[in-house]
Amino acid sequence: LKRVAILTSGGDAPGMNAAIRALTLHALSHEYQVVGFYGGYNGLIDEDYTELSAANVGDIIHRGGTILKSARCPQMLSEAGILQAANSLRKCHIDALVVIGGDGSFKGAQALQEHWQGQLIGIPGTIDNDINGTEATIGFHTAIDTALDCIDKIRDTAQAFERTFVVEVMGRDCGILAMEAGLASGAEQIICKELIEDEQAFLDELKEEMAQSLRQDKHPSYVLVMAEHSLSISAQQLADQLSEYTGVDSRSAILGYVQRGGAPVAGDRILATQLGVAAIEQLAMGTGGVMVGIKNNAITTIPFADTANTQTRNKDFVARLKQYRL
Ligand code: F6P
Repeated sequence: LKRVAILTSGGDAPGMNAAIRALTLHALSHEYQVVGFYGGYNGLIDEDYTELSAANVGDIIHRGGTILKSARCPQMLSEAGILQAANSLRKCHIDALVVIGGDGSFKGAQALQEHWQGQLIGIPGTIDNDINGTEATIGFHTAIDTALDCIDKIRDTAQAFERTFVVEVMGRDCGILAMEAGLASGAEQIICKELIEDEQAFLDELKEEMAQSLRQDKHPSYVLVMAEHSLSISAQQLADQLSEYTGVDSRSAILGYVQRGGAPVAGDRILATQLGVAAIEQLAMGTGGVMVGIKNNAITTIPFADTANTQTRNKDFVARLKQYRL
């Protein structure tokens, strides 16, 4: 093993830079050469890369975004794109590739593995925490804190105006971010797919619980944290329905991309460092075709094919936390 490449792919997440730093420094300590492809798989296909040295990664541990840029790459969904990517790896004399991203990025890695003999390792990097084989993904801890900061501020205005607020957080199809941000902010209601069997019944119960609570004047403010894509109606439509049902002015706030930015919190920097070092150690042992993750503070590995198997994981995760909703 001589030459290791890194790319960041899919939705950027705070801590991706810390992972690039850890990978680069640890690979250099093994005397491997390190290169970074720009813009995810697009840079790989276009052979757009840079050599990485210790100096290149010396002041990035605290920065959001990714110095290598990120993107989604539709070309990796076609056989032609995958063959081109495999060809680029050969042309650039790459022996191992580390992909930092989410499950879409690992699908690409899995497909690539069929056409390229080198070693491929994945590192989970996404604010959604929706990857099987790890308890946490890089960026998740920061995204919760960002969402929390916003929800706390929304609660202030909710309290002052005696309004209720539906706050929509990201997570793609996973409710863990909503559940954790909801618990941490003391949200009166948390809405995510994992908790819903029958949407109408769920909403009927929620509205009645809310109306009763407001009637008893139990809450000086009332906040609902809702995961994106969890309902067939939008956050604003839900707020309108709540206004009508409870008679209390309800508004919506969609936090959106703010959750992807900012300096990574300590938890994400440490996770990124652990996983970066672990990925290089796996490569040094000759391993390929797996993602490195963390469970009970120990490194785990899982085949790429199993990383998307998230339904039970997410449901269990949310159910465990739901017990603590007050
Ligand atoms: O996967 C990260 C994420 O921010 C999701 O939470 C969100 O649904 C999605 O990416 C948005 O994707 P895009 O950047 O393509 O708009």
